[in-house]
Amino acid sequence: MTQITVVTRDGTERIIAAVDGQTLMESIRDNGFDELLALCGGCCSCATCHVHVDPAFAGSLPTMSRDEDDLLDSSGDRDENSRLSCQITVEPALEGLTVRIAEED
Ligand code: FES
Repeated sequence: MTQITVVTRDGTERIIAAVDGQTLMESIRDNGFDELLALCGGCCSCATCHVHVDPAFAGSLPTMSRDEDDLLDSSGDRDENSRLSCQITVEPALEGLTVRIAEED
């Protein structure tokens, strides 16, 4: 288990125990955050799992694929800390990570 802080659109923070080996999207969804729609189920084709990640962890995250980059371009809330949470696998190196759920497009 890896502790990750999730910040919702209204600013509410909650620490979750994410399961190592699952995607970050699955961990957020399984902890009841309904505003993370994840409509495509993790196939990297919807961008409704968009989150903003703590830049301190940028070096611990997997490299962004071309598909992820293209999808994020379709979001009006994209910034330099944007990632698709279905493309990030939870692992102990992410202990203490904070992610904020992006605005709905
Ligand atoms: S769940 Fe659809 S792109 Fe991540």
